[in-house]
Amino acid sequence: MQRLFPAFLAEPTDEQLLKDYAPPAGNHPFVRFNFVASIDGAATHGGLSGELGSPADKRVFSLLRRLADVILVGAGTIRAEGYEGELLDAADRAWRLRSGMPERPVLAIVSGRLDLDPDSELFTRNPGEILILTSATPDPVRAAALAQVAEVLRGPVPGTGESTAVDPRWIRTVLADRGHRMIHSEGGPRLLGAFQEADSIDSLCLTVAPLVAGGSAGRISSGLDGSPLRPLGLQLLCEEGGNLLAEYRRIPTNQ
Ligand SMILES: NC(=O)c1ccc[n+]([C@@H]2O[C@H](COP(=O)([O-])OP(=O)(O)OC[C@H]3O[C@@H](n4cnc5c(N)ncnc54)[C@H](OP(=O)(O)O)[C@@H]3O)[C@@H](O)[C@H]2O)c1
Repeated sequence: MQRLFPAFLAEPTDEQLLKDYAPPAGNHPFVRFNFVASIDGAATHGGLSGELGSPADKRVFSLLRRLADVILVGAGTIRAEGYEGELLDAADRAWRLRSGMPERPVLAIVSGRLDLDPDSELFTRNPGEILILTSATPDPVRAAALAQVAEVLRGPVPGTGESTAVDPRWIRTVLADRGHRMIHSEGGPRLLGAFQEADSIDSLCLTVAPLVAGGSAGRISSGLDGSPLRPLGLQLLCEEGGNLLAEYRRIPTNQ
């Protein structure tokens, strides 16, 4: 791998990349999304993102998990990709413990409909803490069943809009109130779309894989048309094997 921006560096070590991806100093919550896409913008191939991955993308994916207080994921991605079992390997968990962090980040799942099976391996094989962030008025039967296997947190009653929608601003606040600062989201597109609409993205990491996917796969973001453009500034750019690994961050308001 080579770092191209902000300054060239051949073969950055993991420790260097962890420094590059570290959130800024301070106590405010920092919300990061991480995605991979093909050159022509497909977020999936065959319904999953795995075929777009590469060793470089997987390396950064794991390093970003190391830094996370919370891994935040939409229920659609959970249903498509799994998320059962250990989410970090032993070396990553050991690094966290050495760094004074809890061994595992919390897994926080966003779901309005609560269409998640409490008997699935997501809950029976995941050794870490699982939070489910849902709307103010979820299906009571599903909420009660999931409360047996995870902590279910209900959002505030919305003033307007979809009753099953979970407000990203509440997600930020409720996680920050629990002492979680680095909120690391692995998507998916609808969750990113909601955070885009709410102007609640601090960092967006995107690997552009050197692949042309064609087909009708969706983009990394899916939301309402008409939402304002949200400018972000380039923070970091690395390259390996034709993969471009970029991080964009919120531009400070005083610039
Ligand atoms: N290329 C990549 O890097 C990448 C990353 C992640 C996922 N993906 C792919 O994306 C696909 C899934 O797309 P998706 O858009 O369905 O993913 P998603 O955003 O993870 O899931 C959408 C679902 O999450 C819940 N959700 C998200 N935001 C919500 C909000 N603000 N309020 C209430 N509920 C919310 C809802 O669940 P309920 O239906 O339970 O209410 C909604 O149906 C999969 O094929 C996956 O492989 C690709």
